[in-house]
Amino acid sequence: MANTILVGAQWGDEGKGKIIDVLTESADIVVRTQGGNNAGHTVYIGKQKYVLHLIPSGILRPDTQCVIGNGVVIDPIGLVGEIDGLLKMGVKVNGNLFISETAHLVLPYHRELDAQRENLKGKNKIGTTKRGIGPAYGDKAARVGIRVIDLINPARFEPVLKARIKENNEVLKAFGAKPLSFKKVLADYRAAGDRLQPFVTNTVVMLDQACRRGADILFEGAQGTFLDLDHGTYPYVTSSNTTAGGACTGSGVAPNRMDCVVGVMKAYTTRVGEGPLPTENAEISDLLHGMGREFGATTGRARRCGWFDSVATRHATMVNGIDQMAVTNVDGLDTLETIKVCIGYRVGDTKYDYIPNDIEVLVQCEPIWAEFPGWRTPTQDVRSWKKLPVKARSYLNAIAELSGAELAIVSVGPAREETILL
Ligand code: IMP
Repeated sequence: MANTILVGAQWGDEGKGKIIDVLTESADIVVRTQGGNNAGHTVYIGKQKYVLHLIPSGILRPDTQCVIGNGVVIDPIGLVGEIDGLLKMGVKVNGNLFISETAHLVLPYHRELDAQRENLKGKNKIGTTKRGIGPAYGDKAARVGIRVIDLINPARFEPVLKARIKENNEVLKAFGAKPLSFKKVLADYRAAGDRLQPFVTNTVVMLDQACRRGADILFEGAQGTFLDLDHGTYPYVTSSNTTAGGACTGSGVAPNRMDCVVGVMKAYTTRVGEGPLPTENAEISDLLHGMGREFGATTGRARRCGWFDSVATRHATMVNGIDQMAVTNVDGLDTLETIKVCIGYRVGDTKYDYIPNDIEVLVQCEPIWAEFPGWRTPTQDVRSWKKLPVKARSYLNAIAELSGAELAIVSVGPAREETILL
């Protein structure tokens, strides 16, 4: 498989968990490199549903090693809960999970500040998952973060935590929020630290050794290109680099070790939280929600839905260097008579074939549409490209060409086997 970076090519929730699970069959190691437990990857194996937030979905295969890299922000209590949940389901975690010493921690004051800042923003809120992600990355950049290596060293953790809680309690009081109890946070986090300690290692050295022996590594992205802190629809973004470059900085594996970038995108577009979504459309939203689809794995929120936006996916190809694309949720369009695709944006007389940086321009963008005839045939049981309806193949070929990448995987349902490899 070689070293592959997998990214979301839209606004997150592209079905990456399922594609990662399929690709993991030929990977020795799977690495999470950014984000935190704001992510939610859903994987179905048979009738069993697994929702993973921090642990790479590779953990569901007993021979695959999984790494939580330095670029991730870890809520230790959430992570212990996730490990326990997997153990209860009979998944092998011991010996297969490795946690970076230098990953930063999410602390209770990060979650509280996330919520308070959102409240303060009122109608301009970002619509965050309230998992404390932004404040945790903020502390990392401000060099006042606490890392896994501190958590597992009790003598070091206690004074650092005390100082951070003292400062953050002043900020929380200014918001009118309840201050945190140092003793309680210390006890909870120390207990989690003891549980996590056996999994903690120098993952940069571990991954370098793996590269040297020729192991195949899959770097799994969380969220999506337009939630990237630099390349997304700022400020309506998450606080990490969700694009391909984040895989290098978030793992310590050098760019020249990477062989391929796979971009995952839905056959339509969705977004949770606030911010521009140029192709948003009530018809397709009602259709998908009516089918019980498009509710968030982490927060349960109904996702906003729209037609496929090839301006966005072409832009994603540009910033990620997408070689191959995986298109998911094709079966979601099975009943439609006509399917629209956005092929450009227009604001007055100005046309755009990329996402404009000025968010005030982006919100004014009117899509320029192309229309495709729907196939009106169920596709969930189709297992080969040749057996897909001709109109479905034409649609998929068209969106691949518009996105500027090679179509490699088509997904027609949530299960592992509901996948067509081209
Ligand atoms: P945060 O990452 O919780 O700070 O949220 C910032 C924005 O990213 C919000 O619009 C969230 O809805 C969005 N977001 C964060 N994680 C995910 C995800 O895994 N899928 C989709 N959207 C996400």
